Amino acid sequence: MTVQSPTDAAPQPLRARASGPLRGAAPIPGDKSVSHRALILGAMTVGETRIAGLLEGEDVLATAAAMRAFGADVTREGEGRWRVRGVGVGGFAEPSDVIDCGNSGTGVRLIMGAMATTPICATFTGDASLRSRPMGRVTKPLARFGAQAHGRSGGRLPLTLVGARDAGPVEHRLEVASAQVKSAILLAGLNAPGRTVVIEPTPTRDHTERMLAGFGAQVEVEAEPGGARVIRLTGQPDLAPVSIAVPRDPSSAAFPIAAALIVEGSDVTAPGVSLNPTRAGFYETLREMGAALTFENPRTEGGEPVADLRARFSPNLRGVEVPPERAASMIDEYPVLAALAAFAEGVTHMPGVHELRVKECDRIDAMARGLEACGVRVAETRDSLTVHGLGAGGVPGGATVASRLDHRIAMSFLVLGLAARAVVTVDDASPIATSFPGFAPLMRGLGATLEAPANR
Ligand code: S3P
Repeated sequence: MTVQSPTDAAPQPLRARASGPLRGAAPIPGDKSVSHRALILGAMTVGETRIAGLLEGEDVLATAAAMRAFGADVTREGEGRWRVRGVGVGGFAEPSDVIDCGNSGTGVRLIMGAMATTPICATFTGDASLRSRPMGRVTKPLARFGAQAHGRSGGRLPLTLVGARDAGPVEHRLEVASAQVKSAILLAGLNAPGRTVVIEPTPTRDHTERMLAGFGAQVEVEAEPGGARVIRLTGQPDLAPVSIAVPRDPSSAAFPIAAALIVEGSDVTAPGVSLNPTRAGFYETLREMGAALTFENPRTEGGEPVADLRARFSPNLRGVEVPPERAASMIDEYPVLAALAAFAEGVTHMPGVHELRVKECDRIDAMARGLEACGVRVAETRDSLTVHGLGAGGVPGGATVASRLDHRIAMSFLVLGLAARAVVTVDDASPIATSFPGFAPLMRGLGATLEAPANR
């Protein structure tokens, strides 16, 4: 399977027109965060790790290719079924070529962490989006282990990382609420003797901690009174291979669920979606907006709480104030929330979201400009976005919106177009393949009209 970064391919415009009702089951692909971690931890473990339900999106395939370049044996055995024969903690070989992580910030940051305490050298790059994103947030804490990074100005990719020989453990307090930074430090801490400690003032997604414990590492997580969390990892464990069932991705489910809420007559169920509390903020917000959303058959699968998410057309959505402390638990869902908020009555205010400025693109700017083009009034500050809702059926649409190499911007505007009065075109839908390759066919299967413009 080859990995093609979105920049390599010709743009693929896609347009959405008012359609529906959307009805039926929406099989959501595997969780992107868990998929990256399963491949990386599998590669750091001696023995055979088996993965079921792996997301086969471009981001994760780039991580699989990277793990091969570091010496692991990574094999696809069937749809979503992968086997990793790892090299053990500290066992990474030096890659013979540049590691291209495509569009994936998670991939590059976690892999840098994983190699930072092994005395090898690797050069990382990615597509135009990834090459514009800040890496100093990871390379600075990794420097405390003794790793040396040489990148472009602002710490951007391409960047060469020289891993530390004989690294000692590190105690680090996160400056940004970032699971990627936390995870990079913990993965680096695996090959440092003693205890590596990460203090996160705001809890972020905890898949790395959960999975490390699953592989047999000693990880303690302590919740402090103010909500902060202290994670202590004992270095140089003997990781034992496991079988991992990847849960379905709540960040991907957000798109068909949001579409069902705004398209008249819809009734869509997304079975077995992860509702890990560090990821579920979007669904809590939907409930507050008055969405007809139910969590059916709650159960545990692959160590994660999951439920079947059922969403029905909700003509009376209300604008809400989203608490800033919820941002980390729904950070990837703000674009689709902003699109949905356009169909609510009243104002939706989303404060405390400055991190959106350094995602695959500046998501505050991308959503604001796209919504304005579709006839929706918005306001933004450095760290907030406000959407003035127009109510069910009230969004004009009728624009072409730039996806800016950002899968979630592309999907958000296609969702918006399904309930807007006039057709919405996304200039390039190819980035969707990074996280949700089957998005368009899945949506069409539910009853959505998504089509490539005829005059290409
Ligand atoms: C991710 C963490 C988040 C998120 C990204 C996936 C992860 O990024 O936006 O899509 O898997 O750790 P930050 O940690 O930078 O907030």
